[in-house]
Amino acid sequence: MDTVEKIWMDGKFVDWKDANVHVLSHALHYGSGVFEGIRFYKTKTGPVVFRLKEHIERLYYSGKFLRLLPEYKIEEVEEAVLETIRINKVDQGYIRPLLFYGYGKMGLNPKGADINLVIAVWPWGKYLAKDKIKVKVTKYIRIHPDSTHAQAKITGHYVNSILSNIEATEKGYDEALILDYEGNVAEGPGENIFLVEKGKLVTPPANHILPGITRSSILEMANDMGLEASEETISHKRLLMSDELFFTGTAAEITPIFKIDDWVIGEGEIGPITNKLMDEFNKVVTGEDPKYNKWLTRV
Ligand SMILES: Cc1ncc(COP(=O)(O)O)c(C=O)c1O
Repeated sequence: MDTVEKIWMDGKFVDWKDANVHVLSHALHYGSGVFEGIRFYKTKTGPVVFRLKEHIERLYYSGKFLRLLPEYKIEEVEEAVLETIRINKVDQGYIRPLLFYGYGKMGLNPKGADINLVIAVWPWGKYLAKDKIKVKVTKYIRIHPDSTHAQAKITGHYVNSILSNIEATEKGYDEALILDYEGNVAEGPGENIFLVEKGKLVTPPANHILPGITRSSILEMANDMGLEASEETISHKRLLMSDELFFTGTAAEITPIFKIDDWVIGEGEIGPITNKLMDEFNKVVTGEDPKYNKWLTRV
């Protein structure tokens, strides 16, 4: 991976190679952490962070379920993110805030363990590496909404994502697609999904999934572009019959899907609506559509 000089750890900058934790850190054993993935983009006037506030607010929202309450205000964490980008002099890439139970207590009750917050940034290009991808419906189902708080970005949830991704990539696919416990479409291991049906956008409702910040950006942009968009239950059959399909996410941005298992979606090409949204998204994140400058924080 591309490295940079410094990582922010509990209020101090430390060298990348020294940003270590104790092997008995609680989160390492039990997945008791929450995190965010945020992107920052190069613009003509310097780097900007996309939807910084919404991401840090979601970090705090996720943390509440595990009683992970940091000692910093949201605004202080936003500023620490900007400082971490500045000190490392990177002009585009990825930001990873991680809030977790650290050293000091073993056993499932985390009370008494340290609460640590770290912020790392690094240059990162395309996540799914290709223009259009083929996806495998995984045998694993999305975590049942009553088993946990599915809308929180808790590190332990990601075992479900990792297993799904391993299964799909070992079978030669680029990514997995996860169904919910009723057999309806949920999301990707680290992405939300949209289909296009007769010119309209449809995405699964937010109750069983991580309601992505990119997803909500696309819903708002679609509305502004005069595209009809709705949140509806999507059966596996409906998914296959769609005209266009794409993933959304901070890492994946908008990634077109041309195949689900052996089934070719539409013409097997990037569809016109997906293309239009990709163009607009690119303008939005690089500050070229002033209407959405409200989503950008200057570094
Ligand atoms: C499981 C899952 N779903 C969806 C997403 C997309 O969310 P966002 O657009 O906020 O990055 C992510 C990435 O954070 C994710 O991990």
